[in-house]
Amino acid sequence: MGIAHEKLEKNIGLLAVLVAVAVSIGGLAEIVPLMFQAEAIKPLPGVKPYPALELAGRDVYVREGCYNCHSQMVRTLRFETERYGHYSLAGESVYDRPFQWGSKRTGPDLARVGGRYSDDWHRVHLLNPRDVVPESNMPAFPWLAKNKLDGATVQSHMRAIQRLGDPYTDADIAGAPAAVDGKTELDALVAYLQGLGKHAPRGN
Ligand code: HEC
Repeated sequence: MGIAHEKLEKNIGLLAVLVAVAVSIGGLAEIVPLMFQAEAIKPLPGVKPYPALELAGRDVYVREGCYNCHSQMVRTLRFETERYGHYSLAGESVYDRPFQWGSKRTGPDLARVGGRYSDDWHRVHLLNPRDVVPESNMPAFPWLAKNKLDGATVQSHMRAIQRLGDPYTDADIAGAPAAVDGKTELDALVAYLQGLGKHAPRGN
């Protein structure tokens, strides 16, 4: 043991290779089982691909970089579940591409924000946060009320993720332009926010 060990420690190339092997085995042992666990890859009851308007709102959320200040993952810690609600489950985000879990919280976690405020509150808040929360340092997003949604873009987004396996029906996709017709990016973002946490288990 002593001699073999000494040789190994003096041979930096071999040591590096063996360290890489050891770390990879550890990583695989943690990651691979998750890929087969039903609870990690199956949607929770009621969780469906985003309706057209919410999907468009989600795209606005990603484009505007809301994730730079807001996570969407309630951790399993008591002070978090008491503040936000039930901790996040993998089965809530199977249709989130890309997921918005994050860990940066300049503002509060948003995983359970749906239904917490009225649509009007969100509108005022997004157009100028200081109008409802005077001490807020969240930026204003006034252009969202002016930008109209484009039905064809929403439709092709839905078609693309249907190909990736999201169970949209052809009728869902055909109806997308009508669902977003005349609506603004602000309408879409508010619809998206109001849907967050909709299918989470109740309680803490
Ligand atoms: C620079 C950081 C920052 C960015 C970027 C940001 N926010 Fe915020 N957000 C905050 C802060 C700080 C608060 C807490 C004060 C307040 O309510 O305005 C907040 C609060 C909120 C709340 C209220 C949450 C609650 O539980 O009270 C919502 C909803 C929200 N933000 C949505 C958004 C959306 C949607 C975007 C992107 C369009 C966004 N935020 C971008 C910092 C940010």
